[in-house]
Amino acid sequence: MPEGNDLDRYAVIGNPIKHSKSPWIHARFAELTQQSLEYSALLVELDAFELRVAEFFEGGGKGLNITVPFKERAWAMAERHSEAARKAGAVNTLYRGPDGALVGENTDGTGLLRDLKQNHGAELSNKRILLLGAGGAVRGVLPNLIAESPSEIYIANRTLAKAAALADSVQGKVSIRAVHFSEIPEEAFDFVINGTSAGLQNDLPVVHSATVSTHTWCYDMIYGVGDTKFQTWAKSLQAAKALDGLGMLVEQAAETFNIWRGHSPQTAPVIRQLRDMLKQA
Ligand code: ATR
Repeated sequence: MPEGNDLDRYAVIGNPIKHSKSPWIHARFAELTQQSLEYSALLVELDAFELRVAEFFEGGGKGLNITVPFKERAWAMAERHSEAARKAGAVNTLYRGPDGALVGENTDGTGLLRDLKQNHGAELSNKRILLLGAGGAVRGVLPNLIAESPSEIYIANRTLAKAAALADSVQGKVSIRAVHFSEIPEEAFDFVINGTSAGLQNDLPVVHSATVSTHTWCYDMIYGVGDTKFQTWAKSLQAAKALDGLGMLVEQAAETFNIWRGHSPQTAPVIRQLRDMLKQA
């Protein structure tokens, strides 16, 4: 195993990056799988992304996680794409393949589905899903949701054209409708998944309360110190579940760790510890 300065180097790159939990999560995974590695956070200026990525890999770096707002630019930089990345049009993981090519991966969808299914026991086949938002977060998870064979998916967005373009880009076996928030049918869905960034400004997409009943699972792809605004809304409507995206964050990191290191870390203790840390923050 490499020692000292020879440790394999990884990093998360974004702007802003200060609050990223990825360095902590990957350090825990390294401990749990008895690996030695270095994982840091890199703040990069908006116009310097490509340069810094190239420098990182030229300097021997092994892998990068990509976060806001660079996931599409990472996709453009990748010389090869996994199927998930190709379908999502966004990359959250970069590494060099055995032939030296820069490979782009997207593990966000896997992260969401593992959290829903393995951690919480969700069953999505034949279910009706309402997806809120049509930005990068939704694009990243849509192929994985479709692969679960739900009976239908509504993509609702403030800007209808973005939802329509996204729905058009994923033709296939599942019925997908793009609507404005005001056009969502006033009936309960099995899953309401919030992929908007509204919560980051402590805001909430304006969605009719009839979309949530006592059998509805609500999932916010973001997380915070306490409940997100969307979780509070879901709880006020007695939703069956009101989950945040902390489990998704840890699960996407675990999938990335496995791609890089060939080891699948345990996630439950990491999710628990991260939750405790947030409560104490
Ligand atoms: P991300 O990569 O986090 O998805 P993004 O690509 O900028 O970021 O997309 C943000 C999403 O959140 C979009 O669907 C955006 O709606 P628009 O396409 O209409 O801009 C949505 N969003 C952001 N703030 C919102 C708000 N206050 N209410 C409703 N939707 C909001």
